[in-house]
Amino acid sequence: MRTELNSNFRVDVAELPDERVIFGCTAAMREVQAKIGLLRSSQLPALIQGESGTGKEVVARFLHAHSDRQDAPFVKLNCAAIPANLVEKELFGCAAAPFGSAREGRPGLVETAEGGTIFLDEIGELDWDLQGELVQLLQNGSYLRVGADERRSACVRLICASNVDLQAAVQQSKFREDLLRLISSVHLRLSALRDRKVDIPQLCEYLLQRLARKLNRIAPRISPSTLQLLKQWDWPGNLRELENWIARAIVFGEDANPNTGPKTRLAVTRGFSARDHRNNPMNGASRRPVPMATNHLILKVLQENHWNRRKTAADLNISYRSLLYKLREVGAQLQKKGHRSFPPRH
Ligand SMILES: Nc1ncnc2c1ncn2[C@@H]1O[C@H](COP(=O)(O)OP(=O)(O)OP(=O)(O)O)[C@@H](O)[C@H]1O
Ligand SMILES: [Mg+2]
Repeated sequence: MRTELNSNFRVDVAELPDERVIFGCTAAMREVQAKIGLLRSSQLPALIQGESGTGKEVVARFLHAHSDRQDAPFVKLNCAAIPANLVEKELFGCAAAPFGSAREGRPGLVETAEGGTIFLDEIGELDWDLQGELVQLLQNGSYLRVGADERRSACVRLICASNVDLQAAVQQSKFREDLLRLISSVHLRLSALRDRKVDIPQLCEYLLQRLARKLNRIAPRISPSTLQLLKQWDWPGNLRELENWIARAIVFGEDANPNTGPKTRLAVTRGFSARDHRNNPMNGASRRPVPMATNHLILKVLQENHWNRRKTAADLNISYRSLLYKLREVGAQLQKKGHRSFPPRH
């Protein structure tokens, strides 16, 4: 995800999509927007739920940036991304070792976020004991650094996100009911993209402009007929999938398809296949030099496929010929930088 934080952990509002783009015009998302509007000066914790890629993190940043804490830090911890035994240290820090030992105390993210917001992504992954610590933090505003005897106090607002059903996790004794009650005093449910297809044109326009800038290309136009086709797809990966599709479409132009993987071929690919040039919304976009961002993507997929180019082309949803063309460009760019051969020979 793009950087929206500077070194002081501030959210840069200019980096967030516009409010109209985030919430669109469906009743369900408007309700989320209205709730956030009421929360401006509230310190209440909030729980954001939605399928993967529905924009939970974007909404968390927006919520912080539109609260009275906007000038204080916004700090994120993805509970699923680091091993359970490290989450506690990361969150609460650790105490200095006893006298004579070299280990110094270290603050955790709760301290870093003092006065601001701490965003706990995938909170459903927290282990049971740590969930108990969070209950303490929410109830008494106090926490314990790992290895310390004395509790410290903190003033942070907690925003949590989850793409699993936490109520079901409570039933299965995987999530504490008291914690769920505390974090869900404000409950924001984000719609899947398939339930807000009416917003697709506006989202596409925003993403085209943003990604074209980032990829150093001119934003191509998406024709009304292609928009129609995009509305036929259900976007199981939600906004992230749409974002990836737009990025590929900007870079690979005529060969971009709105499906992410080779296993899910989509009927609408007819609409902008290489053969049907007239329907292609991105005509002309693919002959410009490949920017480095794309080189990384190609390299990553090539490596994942053990340098099998046919499979790589299929995974990138481009034709084999297009991939060879891109590889020649990438190879030339790398050779200029002193690399001997690309792709490597085995
Ligand atoms: N309203 C929006 N308009 C445009 N792009 C968006 C919007 N919301 C999210 N995105 C983009 O979609 C991608 C996914 O968003 P985000 O990371 O917030 O989703 P998430 O729900 O947290 O996903 P996950 O469950 O996988 O963590 C990001 O790259 C983000 O920039
Ligand atoms: Mg997320």
